[in-house]
Amino acid sequence: MFPRHVTLLDVGPRDGLQNEKQPVATEHKVALVQRLQAAGLREIEVTSYVSPKWVPQMADNAAVMAAIPRPPGVRHSVLVPNMIGFEAMLAGGAATRPDEIVVFGAASEAFSRRNINCSIEESITRFAPVVAAAREAGLKVRGAISCAVGCPYQGEVGPDAVEQVVRLMKDIGVQHVGIADTIGVGTPRKVQAVIERALKHYPMHEVSGHFHDTYGQALANIYACLEIGLHTFDTSVAGLGGCPYAKGATGNVATEDVVFMLNGMGIDTGIDLDALVAAGGWISDVLGRAPVSRAGKALLVKQGREFA
Ligand code: HMG
Ligand code: MG
Repeated sequence: MFPRHVTLLDVGPRDGLQNEKQPVATEHKVALVQRLQAAGLREIEVTSYVSPKWVPQMADNAAVMAAIPRPPGVRHSVLVPNMIGFEAMLAGGAATRPDEIVVFGAASEAFSRRNINCSIEESITRFAPVVAAAREAGLKVRGAISCAVGCPYQGEVGPDAVEQVVRLMKDIGVQHVGIADTIGVGTPRKVQAVIERALKHYPMHEVSGHFHDTYGQALANIYACLEIGLHTFDTSVAGLGGCPYAKGATGNVATEDVVFMLNGMGIDTGIDLDALVAAGGWISDVLGRAPVSRAGKALLVKQGREFA
């Protein structure tokens, strides 16, 4: 039985824009969040408190958090890799306080080292005080697990390796796990197998899928997850993004494409597709390119837009 309602968390402002080579103005980041909220998104990953030497595009984290509108019912999350990031996040006070933080680890040793400069075991040791401090401060904690199907440095990653990190995250108090196919190599049955491992440790509503669309498999993978009842997914407006530490990885599955599919299946998301498509067109114009979203592009063309 498919879920009747699906929650989409738009990670475009963070996962999408972190990968842009040219600086994106803070006001454009804020306007993107605003447009997503206006389109009905109720979960938005806004920015990261990571080292600006590693990811310069997220250096304006506090300025973005302070400027976004905070309507009731919309939840904002930010990535926090360590206590330095956590302290920086708290330093802004109530004005920059998110609803949720995300610690981000990996199921692959090689990716963990490239992305956060430590082993998987060390990452858990680093996350533990962050998780404790966040929960103490009343913030929800999500854990992202990268390379849950394959790794750009190490090749195939098996479900055992993913389950091990799920277990470690649970042990330190992480409340929700996001299973991430960072380089988009997952296919439906493999993805189901990995999600099922996470479901051994977390309830259905505390597991989500995060699928980059590098090999065009993301929609099929989401469909496969729906088949087993999963109902929470990260998506990225206009298909923005990639990971700076996973060369060649493209953006997450486009929010527009997922909403189009779910609308067609009669599954509710609470998102207004027209407003979402307009938001995707707007940010793509800001970045000077066509939206990666197939549905977004098709609907804009129908309205008379032309793309090269
Ligand atoms: P490090 O160099 O090992 O850190 O980086 P360190 O503790 O040795 O400190 C070195 C310097 O960095 C010090 O400054 C610290 O203050 C500073 P210095 O004394 O040299 O002037 N520093 C920080 N500054 C700001 N914020 C911080 C912070 N921490 C240390 N939080 C670190 C370790 C984790 C910080 C680094 O590797 C890093 O920032 N990595 C982030 C990588 C990243 O953001 N990747 C993209 C997001 S993950 C992703 O996209 C995957 C996901 O979408 C799921 C999927 O698709 O797979 C979530
Ligand atoms: Mg990602």
